[in-house]
Amino acid sequence: MSTTAEELTYKVADLSLADEGRLLIDWAESRMPVLMQLREKFAKTQPLKGQRITGCLHVTKETAVLIRTLVAAGAEVAWSGCNPLSTHDSVAAALAEEGIRMFAWYGQSTEDFYWSIDRTLDFKPTLTLDDGADLIFRVHFEHPHLFDGIIGGSEETTTGVHRLRAMAADGKLMYPVIAVNDAETKWDFDNVYGTGQSSLDGILRATSVLLAGKNFVTAGYGHCGKGCAMRAKGMGANVITTEVKATAALKATLEGVRVMTMDEAAKVGDVFITTTGMKDVIVKRHFESMKDGAIVCNTGHYDCELNLADLNSITKSKREMRANCVEYTLHNGNRIYVLAEGRLVNLAAAEGHPSEVMDMSFANQFQAMMMLADRGKDLGNGVHELPEELDQEIAKIKMDSMGLGLDVLTPEQIAYATDYSQGT
Ligand code: ADE
Repeated sequence: MSTTAEELTYKVADLSLADEGRLLIDWAESRMPVLMQLREKFAKTQPLKGQRITGCLHVTKETAVLIRTLVAAGAEVAWSGCNPLSTHDSVAAALAEEGIRMFAWYGQSTEDFYWSIDRTLDFKPTLTLDDGADLIFRVHFEHPHLFDGIIGGSEETTTGVHRLRAMAADGKLMYPVIAVNDAETKWDFDNVYGTGQSSLDGILRATSVLLAGKNFVTAGYGHCGKGCAMRAKGMGANVITTEVKATAALKATLEGVRVMTMDEAAKVGDVFITTTGMKDVIVKRHFESMKDGAIVCNTGHYDCELNLADLNSITKSKREMRANCVEYTLHNGNRIYVLAEGRLVNLAAAEGHPSEVMDMSFANQFQAMMMLADRGKDLGNGVHELPEELDQEIAKIKMDSMGLGLDVLTPEQIAYATDYSQGT
């Protein structure tokens, strides 16, 4: 008897890669002490027992540690990747062998991508876990019959949280969603240090160019742009940023980063990275004015920041130079190098954020699932935050794991902080 799509329990590229995947996951586990501590603690009490969690988030070694932790706490899990080029096939194979309903492989078409999400939804989740909100959108627009069984969901990214807030404001969000991105132990570490290091890692793996002395342009000086700028500066690049927000531009200026418009930056940049979450950041007129040899990539969630249709329209020939690096020769004779097809360069060309950073991001994801399982039914439809105390708890475990101590306020100091009877 043949297996129907609905009965499939996994689809991955190659199960024989599982041994390699297990080694990667072991490596990540040795660097994710917060999640491992949560795993040990909640394996005993099984607070997620009875929950069916469907996730749509990059399938990496760090995500595997999160999935194993959810399972250890009692959940059943189904998963798909949230980007066609970010799945690590060996990790997907290892997880499929462990019994996770895994529908993910590197190089998915758009059709494969939604087919995979749909297979994870065959599992009828009680909780959804997102990176980019594609799963929540899919439930809302294609599978609204699932609303009744869903307690709530979580969202990992700035881009996703923005869209969900817009959806909630229009009264269209039909279950509570926790904005994991907005936890301080997520955005202030993952978005800055994680994106900074992993994006440069992706650029270097795809090109191996020397960054020292190059004009390095970050489109956007939010947390991700700042992270890339800091790291590029540390490697000796001359950093330039382009912004639409005056306060962000001003911060960049005072941090020693040159600010200019993209029209100006396009003419002088050697390496460009978009970090904005906005579409059409680099378009035809920018590509036309770039120098011969310019390198262009993106680290925002969606692949619409570089307008590659525009680039194609002024291109006379293309060739793949090396993994994740395509040369476009323009009608004007200049060559432009596009990395990772304009998709997240840090995940497509490298391994995503380091485990040490994802440890805190995913501790927040785990806590979001716990909060929803515990009291999601009492939260209204809309976007909610994790309690601030959790940030301190997560940061404290991280500090302990690094062997670093904290001072403690004395009772007199605590009283002093709120004493308005004394001034100077
Ligand atoms: N997003 C950025 N880096 C990641 C990683 N290593 N794993 C999962 N999601 C990520």
